[in-house]
Amino acid sequence: MVDAILGLQWGDEGKGKIVDFFAPQYDVIARFQGGPNAGHTLYVDGKKIVLHQIPSGVFHAGTINLIGNGVVLDPVTLRKECQAVAGFGADVKKNLFISHRTNIIVPTHRALDKASELAKGNDKIGSTLKGIGPAYMDKTGRNALRVGDVLDKNFDTWYQQLRQKHLQLLGNYNFDEDITQWEAEFFEAIEFLRTLNVVNGEYFINDKISQGKKVLAEGAQGSMLDIDFGTFPFVTSSNTTSAGICSGLGIAPQKIRDIMGVTKAYCTRVGGGPFPTELEDATGEELRKLGSEFGATTGRPRRCGWIDLVALKYACMINGVTKVIMTKADVLDNFENLQVCTAYNIDGAESQEIPFQMTRHKIVPVLKEFKGWNTQTSTIKEFSAVPASMKTYVEFINKYIGASVSHISNGPGRHQLITVA
Ligand code: GDP
Ligand code: IMO
Ligand code: MG
Repeated sequence: MVDAILGLQWGDEGKGKIVDFFAPQYDVIARFQGGPNAGHTLYVDGKKIVLHQIPSGVFHAGTINLIGNGVVLDPVTLRKECQAVAGFGADVKKNLFISHRTNIIVPTHRALDKASELAKGNDKIGSTLKGIGPAYMDKTGRNALRVGDVLDKNFDTWYQQLRQKHLQLLGNYNFDEDITQWEAEFFEAIEFLRTLNVVNGEYFINDKISQGKKVLAEGAQGSMLDIDFGTFPFVTSSNTTSAGICSGLGIAPQKIRDIMGVTKAYCTRVGGGPFPTELEDATGEELRKLGSEFGATTGRPRRCGWIDLVALKYACMINGVTKVIMTKADVLDNFENLQVCTAYNIDGAESQEIPFQMTRHKIVPVLKEFKGWNTQTSTIKEFSAVPASMKTYVEFINKYIGASVSHISNGPGRHQLITVA
Protein backbone atom coordinates (compact mmCIF):
# COMPACT_ATOMS: atom_id res chain seq x y z
CA MET A 1 0.00 0.00 0.00
CA VAL A 2 1.29 3.43 -0.96
CA ASP A 3 0.20 6.87 0.31
CA ALA A 4 1.65 10.16 -0.87
CA ILE A 5 2.38 13.61 0.48
CA LEU A 6 2.85 16.27 -2.18
CA GLY A 7 2.60 20.03 -2.66
CA LEU A 8 -0.55 21.67 -4.07
CA GLN A 9 0.84 25.16 -4.75
CA TRP A 10 4.21 26.46 -6.02
CA GLY A 11 6.35 24.49 -3.57
CA ASP A 12 7.49 25.14 0.02
CA GLU A 13 4.09 24.23 1.45
CA GLY A 14 5.76 22.50 4.41
CA LYS A 15 5.97 18.99 2.92
CA GLY A 16 9.16 18.15 4.82
CA LYS A 17 7.60 18.83 8.22
CA ILE A 18 4.47 16.86 7.33
CA VAL A 19 6.42 13.84 5.98
CA ASP A 20 8.57 13.87 9.13
CA PHE A 21 5.41 13.86 11.27
CA PHE A 22 3.78 10.94 9.45
CA ALA A 23 7.00 8.94 8.84
CA PRO A 24 6.68 6.73 11.98
CA GLN A 25 3.44 5.33 10.50
CA TYR A 26 5.32 4.04 7.41
CA ASP A 27 8.06 1.52 6.66
CA VAL A 28 9.47 3.24 3.58
CA ILE A 29 9.63 6.93 2.59
CA ALA A 30 10.41 7.40 -1.11
CA ARG A 31 11.23 10.51 -3.12
CA PHE A 32 9.88 10.10 -6.67
CA GLN A 33 10.96 13.24 -8.54
CA GLY A 34 12.86 16.50 -8.36
CA GLY A 35 16.36 16.94 -7.08
CA PRO A 36 18.43 19.39 -5.06
CA ASN A 37 16.08 22.21 -6.15
CA ALA A 38 13.95 20.97 -3.23
CA GLY A 39 14.51 22.29 0.27
CA HIS A 40 12.48 20.48 2.90
CA THR A 41 12.79 21.94 6.38
CA LEU A 42 12.54 19.75 9.47
CA TYR A 43 13.05 20.34 13.17
CA VAL A 44 14.76 17.45 14.93
CA ASP A 45 14.92 17.84 18.72
CA GLY A 46 14.27 21.54 18.16
CA LYS A 47 17.19 21.89 15.72
CA LYS A 48 16.57 22.92 12.12
CA ILE A 49 17.81 20.93 9.14
CA VAL A 50 17.02 21.37 5.44
CA LEU A 51 16.97 18.27 3.22
CA HIS A 52 17.47 18.54 -0.54
CA GLN A 53 18.01 14.99 -1.75
CA ILE A 54 17.38 12.65 1.17
CA PRO A 55 13.74 11.75 1.97
CA SER A 56 12.30 13.36 5.09
CA GLY A 57 11.91 10.03 6.94
CA VAL A 58 15.64 9.74 7.56
CA PHE A 59 15.46 10.72 11.23
CA HIS A 60 13.21 7.85 12.23
CA ALA A 61 15.16 4.71 13.05
CA GLY A 62 13.40 1.76 11.47
CA THR A 63 12.14 3.79 8.50
CA ILE A 64 13.78 3.03 5.19
CA ASN A 65 14.36 5.91 2.77
CA LEU A 66 14.52 5.44 -0.98
CA ILE A 67 15.68 7.89 -3.64
CA GLY A 68 13.61 6.77 -6.62
CA ASN A 69 14.44 6.56 -10.32
CA GLY A 70 12.40 9.72 -11.05
CA VAL A 71 14.79 11.85 -9.00
CA VAL A 72 17.82 13.67 -10.42
CA LEU A 73 20.69 13.25 -7.98
CA ASP A 74 23.60 15.59 -7.40
CA PRO A 75 26.26 13.43 -5.72
CA VAL A 76 27.95 16.51 -4.25
CA THR A 77 24.78 17.67 -2.49
CA LEU A 78 24.05 14.12 -1.40
CA ARG A 79 27.47 13.70 0.18
CA LYS A 80 27.20 16.94 2.13
CA GLU A 81 23.71 16.04 3.22
CA CYS A 82 24.74 12.57 4.39
CA GLN A 83 27.36 14.23 6.60
CA ALA A 84 24.78 16.70 7.93
CA VAL A 85 22.18 14.05 8.83
CA ALA A 86 24.86 11.90 10.48
CA GLY A 87 25.37 14.84 12.85
CA PHE A 88 21.70 14.37 13.85
CA GLY A 89 22.23 10.66 14.48
CA ALA A 90 20.84 9.28 11.19
CA ASP A 91 22.66 6.25 9.79
CA VAL A 92 22.48 6.46 5.99
CA LYS A 93 24.44 3.24 5.53
CA LYS A 94 21.48 1.47 7.16
CA ASN A 95 18.40 3.42 6.13
CA LEU A 96 19.13 5.13 2.80
CA PHE A 97 18.75 3.32 -0.54
CA ILE A 98 19.17 4.72 -4.05
CA SER A 99 17.69 3.31 -7.23
CA HIS A 100 20.24 2.35 -9.87
CA ARG A 101 18.02 4.11 -12.44
CA THR A 102 18.25 7.51 -10.70
CA ASN A 103 19.74 10.08 -13.09
CA ILE A 104 22.88 11.94 -12.11
CA ILE A 105 23.44 15.69 -12.17
CA VAL A 106 26.98 16.39 -13.42
CA PRO A 107 28.84 19.72 -12.98
CA THR A 108 28.21 20.75 -16.59
CA HIS A 109 24.43 20.44 -15.96
CA ARG A 110 24.79 23.19 -13.38
CA ALA A 111 26.83 25.27 -15.83
CA LEU A 112 24.20 24.73 -18.56
CA ASP A 113 21.40 25.74 -16.18
CA LYS A 114 23.23 28.96 -15.41
CA ALA A 115 24.07 29.67 -19.07
CA SER A 116 20.49 29.02 -20.17
CA GLU A 117 19.04 31.31 -17.50
CA LEU A 118 21.51 34.08 -18.39
CA ALA A 119 20.59 33.76 -22.06
CA LYS A 120 16.89 34.17 -21.23
CA GLY A 121 17.53 37.60 -19.69
CA ASN A 122 14.30 39.09 -18.30
CA ASP A 123 12.34 35.97 -19.25
CA LYS A 124 14.42 33.74 -16.99
CA ILE A 125 12.56 31.03 -15.07
CA GLY A 126 14.24 31.86 -11.78
CA SER A 127 15.70 28.35 -11.64
CA THR A 128 17.49 27.27 -8.48
CA LEU A 129 20.56 26.78 -10.77
CA LYS A 130 21.04 23.24 -9.47
CA GLY A 131 21.14 21.75 -12.98
CA ILE A 132 17.61 20.33 -12.87
CA GLY A 133 16.42 21.31 -16.38
CA PRO A 134 19.58 20.15 -18.20
CA ALA A 135 19.65 16.87 -16.21
CA TYR A 136 16.05 16.01 -17.14
CA MET A 137 16.79 17.07 -20.75
CA ASP A 138 19.58 14.49 -20.82
CA LYS A 139 17.16 11.90 -19.45
CA THR A 140 14.53 12.46 -22.15
CA GLY A 141 17.29 13.06 -24.70
CA ARG A 142 18.67 9.62 -23.72
CA ASN A 143 22.14 10.85 -22.84
CA ALA A 144 22.07 10.70 -19.06
CA LEU A 145 24.34 8.89 -16.67
CA ARG A 146 22.54 6.96 -13.97
CA VAL A 147 23.55 5.80 -10.51
CA GLY A 148 24.01 2.20 -11.71
CA ASP A 149 26.57 3.47 -14.25
CA VAL A 150 28.77 4.72 -11.42
CA LEU A 151 29.43 1.09 -10.48
CA ASP A 152 30.66 0.25 -14.01
CA LYS A 153 34.37 0.40 -14.87
CA ASN A 154 33.53 2.51 -17.96
CA PHE A 155 31.98 5.32 -15.92
CA ASP A 156 34.87 7.74 -16.44
CA THR A 157 34.74 7.28 -20.23
CA TRP A 158 30.98 7.86 -20.33
CA TYR A 159 31.39 10.89 -18.11
CA GLN A 160 34.01 12.39 -20.48
CA GLN A 161 31.72 11.80 -23.48
CA LEU A 162 28.82 13.58 -21.80
CA ARG A 163 31.08 16.38 -20.60
CA GLN A 164 32.31 16.91 -24.16
CA LYS A 165 28.73 17.26 -25.46
CA HIS A 166 27.98 19.76 -22.74
CA LEU A 167 31.12 21.81 -23.40
CA GLN A 168 30.05 22.17 -27.03
CA LEU A 169 26.64 23.42 -25.90
CA LEU A 170 28.26 25.77 -23.41
CA GLY A 171 30.41 27.12 -26.23
CA ASN A 172 27.20 28.15 -28.03
CA TYR A 173 26.23 30.16 -24.97
CA ASN A 174 29.71 31.73 -24.74
CA PHE A 175 29.91 30.37 -21.22
CA ASP A 176 33.46 30.04 -20.00
CA GLU A 177 33.27 29.66 -16.22
CA ASP A 178 35.93 27.38 -14.78
CA ILE A 179 34.30 24.16 -13.59
CA THR A 180 37.51 22.43 -12.44
CA GLN A 181 36.68 22.85 -8.75
CA TRP A 182 33.13 21.52 -9.31
CA GLU A 183 34.60 18.46 -11.02
CA ALA A 184 37.07 17.74 -8.21
CA GLU A 185 34.17 17.77 -5.71
CA PHE A 186 32.07 15.68 -8.08
CA PHE A 187 34.61 12.85 -8.34
CA GLU A 188 35.09 12.76 -4.58
CA ALA A 189 31.32 12.54 -4.24
CA ILE A 190 31.13 9.74 -6.81
CA GLU A 191 33.58 7.74 -4.67
CA PHE A 192 31.29 8.30 -1.71
CA LEU A 193 28.20 7.31 -3.73
CA ARG A 194 29.85 3.97 -4.47
CA THR A 195 29.84 3.20 -0.73
CA LEU A 196 26.07 3.72 -0.38
CA ASN A 197 23.23 1.20 -0.91
CA VAL A 198 22.44 1.19 -4.63
CA VAL A 199 19.45 -1.04 -5.34
CA ASN A 200 17.18 -2.23 -8.07
CA GLY A 201 14.61 0.36 -6.94
CA GLU A 202 11.54 -0.99 -8.72
CA TYR A 203 12.02 -4.53 -7.30
CA PHE A 204 13.04 -3.13 -3.94
CA ILE A 205 9.82 -1.16 -3.50
CA ASN A 206 7.48 -3.73 -5.02
CA ASP A 207 8.94 -6.42 -2.74
CA LYS A 208 8.21 -4.20 0.25
CA ILE A 209 4.65 -3.64 -0.95
CA SER A 210 4.16 -7.41 -1.44
CA GLN A 211 5.39 -7.97 2.12
CA GLY A 212 2.60 -5.69 3.35
CA LYS A 213 4.93 -2.79 4.22
CA LYS A 214 3.57 0.75 4.11
CA VAL A 215 5.17 3.19 1.68
CA LEU A 216 4.92 6.97 1.75
CA ALA A 217 5.83 8.75 -1.49
CA GLU A 218 7.30 12.22 -0.84
CA GLY A 219 6.80 14.86 -3.49
CA ALA A 220 9.08 17.79 -4.16
CA GLN A 221 8.10 21.20 -5.55
CA GLY A 222 4.35 21.75 -6.02
CA SER A 223 1.56 20.94 -8.45
CA MET A 224 1.64 24.39 -10.09
CA LEU A 225 5.32 23.73 -10.93
CA ASP A 226 4.47 20.45 -12.72
CA ILE A 227 6.09 20.25 -16.16
CA ASP A 228 2.73 19.43 -17.82
CA PHE A 229 0.09 21.06 -15.63
CA GLY A 230 1.93 23.95 -13.99
CA THR A 231 2.35 27.54 -15.15
CA PHE A 232 4.57 26.55 -18.10
CA PRO A 233 7.27 27.60 -18.91
CA PHE A 234 7.69 28.84 -15.31
CA VAL A 235 7.79 25.32 -13.93
CA THR A 236 10.30 22.69 -12.96
CA SER A 237 11.23 19.79 -15.26
CA SER A 238 9.41 16.84 -13.63
CA ASN A 239 5.89 15.65 -12.95
CA THR A 240 5.36 16.87 -9.41
CA THR A 241 1.77 15.60 -9.37
CA SER A 242 0.58 12.13 -8.33
CA ALA A 243 1.11 10.68 -11.82
CA GLY A 244 4.84 11.07 -11.17
CA ILE A 245 4.67 8.54 -8.32
CA CYS A 246 4.19 5.55 -10.64
CA SER A 247 6.86 6.49 -13.16
CA GLY A 248 9.20 7.84 -10.50
CA LEU A 249 9.21 4.70 -8.37
CA GLY A 250 8.08 1.88 -10.66
CA ILE A 251 4.81 1.09 -8.91
CA ALA A 252 1.36 0.49 -10.37
CA PRO A 253 -1.47 3.04 -9.94
CA GLN A 254 -3.78 0.63 -8.10
CA LYS A 255 -1.23 0.35 -5.28
CA ILE A 256 -1.82 4.02 -4.37
CA ARG A 257 -4.34 4.78 -1.61
CA ASP A 258 -4.26 8.26 -0.03
CA ILE A 259 -2.96 11.37 -1.76
CA MET A 260 -2.33 13.92 0.96
CA GLY A 261 -1.96 17.36 -0.56
CA VAL A 262 -0.20 20.11 1.38
CA THR A 263 -1.22 23.75 1.02
CA LYS A 264 -0.33 26.83 2.98
CA ALA A 265 -3.24 28.79 4.48
CA TYR A 266 -2.07 31.53 2.10
CA CYS A 267 0.20 31.28 -0.93
CA THR A 268 3.85 31.79 -1.90
CA ARG A 269 6.01 31.41 -4.97
CA VAL A 270 9.75 31.73 -5.44
CA GLY A 271 11.22 32.48 -8.86
CA GLY A 272 9.46 33.96 -11.88
CA GLY A 273 6.05 33.32 -13.40
CA PRO A 274 2.35 34.03 -12.93
CA PHE A 275 0.95 34.40 -9.42
CA PRO A 276 -2.56 35.90 -9.61
CA THR A 277 -3.04 36.51 -5.86
CA GLU A 278 0.40 38.01 -5.28
CA LEU A 279 0.45 40.98 -2.89
CA GLU A 280 3.16 43.45 -3.80
CA ASP A 281 2.28 45.70 -0.87
CA ALA A 282 2.59 45.98 2.91
CA THR A 283 0.29 42.97 3.42
CA GLY A 284 2.56 40.82 1.23
CA GLU A 285 5.53 42.09 3.21
CA GLU A 286 3.74 41.21 6.47
CA LEU A 287 3.11 37.65 5.26
CA ARG A 288 6.78 37.32 4.27
CA LYS A 289 7.91 38.57 7.67
CA LEU A 290 5.48 36.57 9.81
CA GLY A 291 5.92 33.41 7.71
CA SER A 292 9.73 33.79 7.40
CA GLU A 293 9.21 33.36 3.69
CA PHE A 294 12.74 33.01 2.38
CA GLY A 295 13.76 30.07 0.17
CA ALA A 296 15.15 27.03 2.00
CA THR A 297 17.45 26.24 -0.97
CA THR A 298 18.44 29.64 -2.35
CA GLY A 299 17.55 32.07 0.44
CA ARG A 300 15.58 34.22 -2.04
CA PRO A 301 12.58 36.14 -0.63
CA ARG A 302 9.38 34.29 -1.50
CA ARG A 303 6.58 36.19 -3.22
CA CYS A 304 3.48 36.12 -0.99
CA GLY A 305 -0.27 36.42 -1.53
CA TRP A 306 -3.71 35.14 -0.52
CA ILE A 307 -4.76 31.53 -0.96
CA ASP A 308 -5.81 30.81 -4.54
CA LEU A 309 -8.76 28.40 -4.57
CA VAL A 310 -8.92 28.25 -8.36
CA ALA A 311 -5.39 26.84 -8.43
CA LEU A 312 -5.99 24.70 -5.33
CA LYS A 313 -9.12 23.07 -6.77
CA TYR A 314 -7.25 22.40 -10.02
CA ALA A 315 -4.38 20.80 -8.09
CA CYS A 316 -6.84 18.59 -6.16
CA MET A 317 -8.36 17.48 -9.46
CA ILE A 318 -5.05 16.66 -11.19
CA ASN A 319 -3.70 14.78 -8.15
CA GLY A 320 -6.87 13.02 -6.99
CA VAL A 321 -6.29 14.46 -3.54
CA THR A 322 -8.05 12.52 -0.76
CA LYS A 323 -6.91 14.67 2.18
CA VAL A 324 -5.68 18.24 2.45
CA ILE A 325 -3.16 19.36 5.05
CA MET A 326 -3.18 23.09 5.66
CA THR A 327 0.08 24.51 6.97
CA LYS A 328 1.16 27.85 8.42
CA ALA A 329 -2.32 28.73 9.66
CA ASP A 330 -0.57 30.45 12.60
CA VAL A 331 1.05 32.92 10.18
CA LEU A 332 -2.43 34.44 9.66
CA ASP A 333 -2.95 34.93 13.43
CA ASN A 334 -2.43 38.70 13.34
CA PHE A 335 -4.69 39.61 10.44
CA GLU A 336 -8.02 41.44 11.00
CA ASN A 337 -9.32 40.23 7.66
CA LEU A 338 -8.31 37.58 5.16
CA GLN A 339 -9.03 37.18 1.47
CA VAL A 340 -9.44 34.04 -0.62
CA CYS A 341 -9.44 33.95 -4.40
CA THR A 342 -12.62 32.30 -5.72
CA ALA A 343 -12.31 33.11 -9.45
CA TYR A 344 -10.10 34.79 -12.00
CA ASN A 345 -11.15 37.74 -14.08
CA ILE A 346 -9.31 36.87 -17.30
CA ASP A 347 -9.21 39.74 -19.78
CA GLY A 348 -12.57 40.92 -18.42
CA ALA A 349 -14.38 37.56 -18.21
CA GLU A 350 -14.81 35.63 -14.96
CA SER A 351 -13.61 32.02 -14.85
CA GLN A 352 -12.91 29.31 -12.30
CA GLU A 353 -10.49 27.47 -14.59
CA ILE A 354 -6.73 27.68 -14.98
CA PRO A 355 -6.15 29.04 -18.49
CA PHE A 356 -3.80 27.36 -20.99
CA GLN A 357 -1.23 30.11 -20.77
CA MET A 358 -1.48 32.38 -17.74
CA THR A 359 1.34 34.64 -18.90
CA ARG A 360 -0.58 35.78 -21.99
CA HIS A 361 -3.56 37.21 -20.09
CA LYS A 362 -4.29 39.93 -17.62
CA ILE A 363 -5.57 37.98 -14.64
CA VAL A 364 -7.23 39.79 -11.74
CA PRO A 365 -8.22 37.63 -8.77
CA VAL A 366 -11.82 37.78 -7.57
CA LEU A 367 -11.49 37.89 -3.79
CA LYS A 368 -13.88 37.01 -0.99
CA GLU A 369 -13.24 38.52 2.42
CA PHE A 370 -13.20 36.56 5.68
CA LYS A 371 -12.90 37.73 9.23
CA GLY A 372 -9.46 36.84 10.65
CA TRP A 373 -9.23 35.00 13.98
CA ASN A 374 -6.84 37.60 15.30
CA THR A 375 -5.63 35.45 18.16
CA GLN A 376 -2.56 33.29 18.81
CA THR A 377 -3.12 29.70 17.69
CA SER A 378 0.34 28.10 17.75
CA THR A 379 -0.18 26.27 21.06
CA ILE A 380 -3.57 24.76 20.15
CA LYS A 381 -3.59 20.95 20.18
CA GLU A 382 -7.25 20.06 19.61
CA PHE A 383 -9.60 21.05 16.83
CA SER A 384 -12.24 21.91 19.44
CA ALA A 385 -9.99 24.80 20.58
CA VAL A 386 -9.61 26.27 17.08
CA PRO A 387 -11.23 29.75 16.77
CA ALA A 388 -14.65 29.78 15.07
CA SER A 389 -13.44 32.09 12.29
CA MET A 390 -10.63 29.63 11.41
CA LYS A 391 -13.21 26.86 11.21
CA THR A 392 -15.36 29.01 8.91
CA TYR A 393 -12.30 29.69 6.71
CA VAL A 394 -11.45 25.97 6.49
CA GLU A 395 -15.06 24.91 5.85
CA PHE A 396 -15.36 27.38 2.98
CA ILE A 397 -12.16 26.01 1.43
CA ASN A 398 -13.35 22.39 1.82
CA LYS A 399 -16.60 23.19 0.06
CA TYR A 400 -14.94 25.08 -2.77
CA ILE A 401 -12.24 22.52 -3.57
CA GLY A 402 -14.39 19.44 -2.96
CA ALA A 403 -11.85 17.87 -0.56
CA SER A 404 -11.42 18.06 3.20
CA VAL A 405 -8.71 19.55 5.34
CA SER A 406 -7.71 16.68 7.63
CA HIS A 407 -4.93 18.48 9.54
CA ILE A 408 -4.00 22.06 10.32
CA SER A 409 -0.35 22.84 10.99
CA ASN A 410 0.13 25.70 13.46
CA GLY A 411 3.89 25.98 13.76
CA PRO A 412 7.14 24.59 12.32
CA GLY A 413 7.64 22.07 15.14
CA ARG A 414 7.12 18.36 14.51
CA HIS A 415 4.08 18.12 16.80
CA GLN A 416 2.40 21.41 15.95
CA LEU A 417 -0.32 19.67 13.96
CA ILE A 418 -4.03 19.66 14.77
CA THR A 419 -6.15 16.73 13.61
CA VAL A 420 -9.47 18.01 12.29
CA ALA A 421 -12.29 16.15 13.98
P1 GDP B 1 8.76 22.23 1.80
O1 GDP B 1 9.72 22.52 0.70
O2 GDP B 1 7.36 22.02 1.31
O3 GDP B 1 9.20 21.13 2.72
O4 GDP B 1 8.70 23.55 2.68
P2 GDP B 1 9.97 24.44 3.15
O5 GDP B 1 10.71 23.73 4.19
O6 GDP B 1 10.72 24.93 1.98
O7 GDP B 1 9.22 25.73 3.70
C1 GDP B 1 8.28 25.64 4.73
C2 GDP B 1 8.74 26.56 5.89
O8 GDP B 1 7.66 26.76 6.77
C3 GDP B 1 9.83 25.94 6.71
O9 GDP B 1 10.64 26.97 7.22
C4 GDP B 1 9.07 25.25 7.84
O10 GDP B 1 9.86 25.12 9.03
C5 GDP B 1 7.95 26.22 8.05
N1 GDP B 1 6.68 25.63 8.51
C6 GDP B 1 6.12 24.44 8.15
N2 GDP B 1 4.89 24.32 8.70
C7 GDP B 1 4.68 25.46 9.41
C8 GDP B 1 3.58 25.96 10.17
O11 GDP B 1 2.53 25.33 10.31
N3 GDP B 1 3.72 27.19 10.74
C9 GDP B 1 4.86 27.93 10.62
N4 GDP B 1 4.91 29.12 11.19
N5 GDP B 1 5.91 27.48 9.89
C10 GDP B 1 5.80 26.29 9.30
P1 IMO C 1 10.37 22.31 -2.62
O1 IMO C 1 10.47 20.81 -2.78
C1 IMO C 1 9.75 26.21 -4.43
C2 IMO C 1 11.07 26.74 -8.55
C3 IMO C 1 12.25 27.65 -8.81
C4 IMO C 1 11.91 28.14 -10.20
C5 IMO C 1 11.30 26.91 -10.85
C6 IMO C 1 12.28 26.10 -11.68
O2 IMO C 1 11.27 22.85 -1.56
O3 IMO C 1 8.96 22.74 -2.48
P2 IMO C 1 14.35 24.53 -11.16
O4 IMO C 1 15.53 24.71 -10.26
O5 IMO C 1 13.50 23.34 -10.82
O6 IMO C 1 14.72 24.55 -12.60
O7 IMO C 1 13.45 25.84 -10.94
O8 IMO C 1 10.81 26.11 -9.79
N1 IMO C 1 11.34 25.65 -7.58
C7 IMO C 1 10.85 25.63 -6.33
N2 IMO C 1 10.10 26.54 -5.67
N3 IMO C 1 10.06 25.04 -3.84
C8 IMO C 1 10.77 24.11 -4.50
O9 IMO C 1 10.99 22.87 -4.00
C9 IMO C 1 11.23 24.40 -5.79
N4 IMO C 1 11.99 23.73 -6.70
C10 IMO C 1 12.03 24.50 -7.79
O10 IMO C 1 12.31 28.69 -7.87
O11 IMO C 1 10.91 29.13 -10.11
MG1 MG D 1 11.08 23.98 0.11
